[in-house]
Amino acid sequence: GAAVEADISTLKEGEMITVEWRGKPVWIVKRTPAQLAELEKISAELADPDSQRKADELTPQYARNHHRSIKPEILVTVGICTHLGCSPTAKFQSGAQPSLPDSWPGGFLCPCHGSTFDMAGRVYKNKPAPDNLEVPPHMYLSDTKILIG
Ligand code: FES
Repeated sequence: GAAVEADISTLKEGEMITVEWRGKPVWIVKRTPAQLAELEKISAELADPDSQRKADELTPQYARNHHRSIKPEILVTVGICTHLGCSPTAKFQSGAQPSLPDSWPGGFLCPCHGSTFDMAGRVYKNKPAPDNLEVPPHMYLSDTKILIG
């Protein structure tokens, strides 16, 4: 399929945009320093914190780190649940998470069977989804342009 170019010049911290690539939604999220710091603390709660599973399929070499990305602050991930393919809902933007427990720093919640993913698309333990969200192949064309695919 054709590669897609995404412009992130107006993306602010704590926000995300969605672009379509091969008929799939790809989320680009600019994480805040607090969200990034959280990623290092929650490994024990995750099923595959180091993205070892199906790595060839789900996590390119340059994203096999705790933030699962090239630039620490920018997450690029396919917004399709690895359980049965629903689209999880972002639960981190201000005002978007009134019903979350205080203990959950936010991430993505799949409405179909309740899988939760952290701010790097890593799935929490004991959830129906077996794997982390897919990080699609991508590269930076400039500071503000990402080529996906
Ligand atoms: Fe996401 Fe089942 S499809 S939890």
